[in-house]
Amino acid sequence: MSLRGDYNLAASDFSVEQDWSAYSDAEHALFRRLYERQSKLVPRYACPEWMQAIAGLDAGAGVPRFDQVSAKLRAATGWEIVAVPGLIPDEAFFTHLAGRRFPVTVWLRKPEEFDYIVEPDVFHDFFGHVPLLFDRVYADHLHEYGKGGLKAMRLDAVKMLARLYWYTIEFGLVRTPAGVRAYGAGLLSSGGELAYCVTDPAPRRLPFEVERILRTDYQIDKYQTTYFVIDSFDQLMRETAPDFTPLYAKLRTLPALAP
Ligand code: PHE
Ligand code: CO
Repeated sequence: MSLRGDYNLAASDFSVEQDWSAYSDAEHALFRRLYERQSKLVPRYACPEWMQAIAGLDAGAGVPRFDQVSAKLRAATGWEIVAVPGLIPDEAFFTHLAGRRFPVTVWLRKPEEFDYIVEPDVFHDFFGHVPLLFDRVYADHLHEYGKGGLKAMRLDAVKMLARLYWYTIEFGLVRTPAGVRAYGAGLLSSGGELAYCVTDPAPRRLPFEVERILRTDYQIDKYQTTYFVIDSFDQLMRETAPDFTPLYAKLRTLPALAP
């Protein structure tokens, strides 16, 4: 896989400096346009925890300064942002999460990628992922996920655990009194899939089930055909807490399920 982004200046943990002064006016304007489009959608489709957090972030003016947001995050839940050049290897990724550091890509998509981008950029990472790090239960769960990732590496089970990340942290839905809402970052940062995942009759919306998710393949290049719906972040925390070792051993012998 060839990755976009400049890895030459990255440290051994793949972190880089966010050179905030290097963003152009055009990039700040593009970030604002992305932010404004999503801002019209989120009141209807985003989960309440995300809505509450974004209100305190005041991040619509342009590409945010990670150090300022990190200061707020540290005070709220002990997390911080670590700037990265793009996608990073599993071990570096899990190690950051296990240390309550969320990797955020520094580069912004090009204007022609306004509607669709293959790799995560700063808009996806920041707008989609960072606000929920202010939620205590979500924040603790992601910390556990990071530790679980390092363990899955030792057990050769990263592929299974990555499906959990996909169907929760990236494309998860949550039941609320007002109906189903998005908490997955891939949904929250998407111009099209955010409304689709909540209202379109076509996709399946299945109750959250760890075993099924660990077995279910996913597709990265179109809207999801299956979403898994949690009742709460407490449920996510509770049901992912048991030792996955026996589960990995069992599921390894079974065929994967189609998305
Ligand atoms: N409980 C998992 C294990 O034992 C770790 C984990 C926690 C995975 C939270 C995902 C989320 O491997
Ligand atoms: Co993401």
